[in-house]
Amino acid sequence: EEILAAGEALLARRRDFLGKTILVTAGATRERLDPFRFITNASTGKMGYAVAEAALARGAQVVLISGPGELPPPPGARVRKVESALEMYGAVMEEFPAADVVIKAAAVGDYRPAEASPVKIKKDQGELTVTLVKNPDILTALGQRKGRKILVGFAAESNNILEYAREKLRKKNADLIVANDITQEGAGFAGDTNVVHLVAANGEIESLPVLSKREVADRILDRVLALSGGR
Ligand code: C5P
Repeated sequence: EEILAAGEALLARRRDFLGKTILVTAGATRERLDPFRFITNASTGKMGYAVAEAALARGAQVVLISGPGELPPPPGARVRKVESALEMYGAVMEEFPAADVVIKAAAVGDYRPAEASPVKIKKDQGELTVTLVKNPDILTALGQRKGRKILVGFAAESNNILEYAREKLRKKNADLIVANDITQEGAGFAGDTNVVHLVAANGEIESLPVLSKREVADRILDRVLALSGGR
């Protein structure tokens, strides 16, 4: 796999990310209830890993901050594995200053249990109430300090996709939102394909057909390059 990745990088038509550092987040977070249990979601990390691989092939330095999962680390990337949203927040903030572009493909848990029990929770009560508290929104925090960096967020929606994407661009001060239509065949979490709209802060919208996640990754990078012209 390492030889293949190195060959691919050498043969890549475009080495248009040479000299750029790209920070990518991928996968789901795990929010602990006790040592054995956690709240998570169905993200596998495939989209974020595809972005990391495409960026490496195009000459970028890549830092990949990934939630737990089985995907092999993309050869050439510096990978930091994290578990919770708070850990991801910490790692992203550490790596952010050195990045030119941040691509936030991770499906970050919006809430975490207010307390993680240090011992296994027993089933002796009839009902169990868990209080959840809000996690910080990492992308919003980056948007508040983005300077000249390019910020790309993801959105998984089942209705009013473009409207929500525009709202997210504004709220999070991002440059581009990759909006997934999760109702469409070939889109979403576990598969190898995706169906997305690239919604840019400059008002441009590009709606793509069903493509492999790797092809989607390259289209995102094309758009990032266009947006970073002059930066
Ligand atoms: O608001 P929503 O969760 O739909 O936005 C998704 C985008 O925001 C993704 O790019 C995701 O990585 C990012 N996000 C984040 N921190 C959170 C929740 C989402 O960075 N706590």
